[in-house]
Amino acid sequence: MQLGSDSDNLISMFQKITLQHIRPYSQVQVELGKNINVLFGPNGAGKTTIVEALCVLSTTKSYRASKLFDLVSFGQPIGKITGETSDFDTVSVDIMPRKHIFYKNGDRITRTSQFLHATKVVVLAPEHLYLISGSGEKRRQFLDHLLCQKHPILLDDFKAYRKTIKQKQALLKQNLHFHDYKTQVEPWNQQLFTHGEIIRKHRKELLNEIQANVEKEYGEISQTAEPVTLNYLQREQSMMERLSELEFQEHRIKRVLVGCHRDDFEIGLKGQSADIIASQGERASLLLALKFAEMSYLTDDQIPVMLLDDVGVTLDDQRRDHLFHRLQKLQPQTLMTTPNPTIVENARAIGAQVLMQKKGDFQTPISWK
Ligand SMILES: Nc1ncnc2c1ncn2[C@@H]1O[C@H](COP(=O)(O)OP(=O)(O)O)[C@@H](O)[C@H]1O
Ligand SMILES: [Mg+2]
Repeated sequence: MQLGSDSDNLISMFQKITLQHIRPYSQVQVELGKNINVLFGPNGAGKTTIVEALCVLSTTKSYRASKLFDLVSFGQPIGKITGETSDFDTVSVDIMPRKHIFYKNGDRITRTSQFLHATKVVVLAPEHLYLISGSGEKRRQFLDHLLCQKHPILLDDFKAYRKTIKQKQALLKQNLHFHDYKTQVEPWNQQLFTHGEIIRKHRKELLNEIQANVEKEYGEISQTAEPVTLNYLQREQSMMERLSELEFQEHRIKRVLVGCHRDDFEIGLKGQSADIIASQGERASLLLALKFAEMSYLTDDQIPVMLLDDVGVTLDDQRRDHLFHRLQKLQPQTLMTTPNPTIVENARAIGAQVLMQKKGDFQTPISWK
């Protein structure tokens, strides 16, 4: 699809989101405009929580909590997030200690992959500052969340893979004799192999698909023509061969050492690892280039919703200007948060509507529709 500013024709965005017993809120409702929305309020007011809740409704996952129950207000047994979309769907999730149930238009969804509705999101949050230089876990999460939005069916492979790792880990903890362990672990290894190969194949394809775009975007942001590469780092060429070499060690140290849960990818800049050579400015440009590439990758008949948490922290003035310029041109539905009044004014200049926060609630200004 040709990206343009004609967002009126685009379908499925969020019109309203309601949180009940989620983080600091007992209940809050936020109505979103169809273009750029800014949540403005002091630190600790609950802005990020709204962004996080929208992310959960779109992707079934949070980008900052490893388990959904972390979102539920302390001391509460259950939390609920409900969203109403522009194509009249109501999507919701009930979050309980060890399970969560998704609903679409009141019907319980039994397979999470069927929940992923038309609204896709790109999230840029302070957590992503570690994408270039942090642990492999952050980069795997970036790849896997993106893949699941593009191909919801992959959620099933990721779920099966995670479950098998847990089962294998439990078996390792049983202190079985190696011979008995080897017999019992065989089906789990097969499962890891089957789902792991699918996951690896898709991760590599994704990197191949976005690489040229990341390089192009980086060039535009930094006004340079430096090569940018995305290189998948696979721990072992053949999982089964590596397993036969390492299974004794796995049994001895009781850890799963072989599989795609330990893979990573390296961002290369000027032929070197960006993690080692990139300056702060170059890292910020790479991060924004990755996010723009993510936006194109997820655009099919609709531009993804942009969730930009604390843009004053994630991007400096120069890169924020670049982002705002892009937002002004494309006008995707955007939810941006900031405690910084200058950024609010800059956002107003590109047509943003501002929601001011007042102690766990949102006040709408007169211009708000
Ligand atoms: N599970 C929870 N229950 C209750 N309060 C929480 C929970 N998790 C976080 N908080 C509190 O929610 C507040 C708002 O968080 P956040 O949405 O990150 O605010 P902001 O983005 O506006 O700085 C913080 O003061 C935090 O301590
Ligand atoms: Mg915040």
